[in-house]
Amino acid sequence: MPDRKAAYPGAAAYLPASHSLTACRKAVDACHGCPLYRRATHAVFGEGAAHSPLVLIGEQPGNDEDLSGRPFVGPSGKLLDRALAEAGVDRGKAYVTNVVKHFKWTPSGEKRLHKKPDAAEIAACRPWLEAELAAVKPVTIVALGATAGQALLGRAFRVTRQRGVPLTTPFAPHLIATIHPSAVLRQRTPDDRAREYAALVADLKVVAATVT
Ligand code: URA
Ligand code: SF4
Repeated sequence: MPDRKAAYPGAAAYLPASHSLTACRKAVDACHGCPLYRRATHAVFGEGAAHSPLVLIGEQPGNDEDLSGRPFVGPSGKLLDRALAEAGVDRGKAYVTNVVKHFKWTPSGEKRLHKKPDAAEIAACRPWLEAELAAVKPVTIVALGATAGQALLGRAFRVTRQRGVPLTTPFAPHLIATIHPSAVLRQRTPDDRAREYAALVADLKVVAATVT
């Protein structure tokens, strides 16, 4: 059996000599470490405060992020901004990024539908995330959803069981996982949305307590 994680050459060869955020942000658009670059508009690198105590990590850019080149600017990002503000966290003081830097999608009529990155793509893209974490050196990492949680804590991670409690990783003294903001948007009824949104805010309050 081939090792699925070694399915692609990976991003390592595309990292610049200096692993600074500025140098990486310039270099990432030319990354061909896995096939996802082929159908995306831009790579989307993280952005925000370069030495922030707080790094928020999502899954991958969505349609709006792919077009603008910036993380969490679409509907999920707007909901995240609102939840952060309500929890007392200033997004402007955080660093926000994704596990995978290119948008993976499948056509549906005129639309481009988000498709989950697989383990091989996540492994291929990991050098960019590791460079970001090494540069920012956060006190607290927020894993937004299962993809980010599993990328940082391993495949056994379950967001339903481990959300909202401070965990540790080699990358930061604290890691707190919560649901992805898109999971709030996907709820079918206003009541379900309100309940999931409140649970997201509650988890982000745990985050706020680790950095204030
Ligand atoms: N979803 C993510 O995980 N990241 C983004 O940047 C946007 C939507
Ligand atoms: Fe490189 Fe990551 Fe884009 Fe794949 S998804 S091409 S590894 S930046």
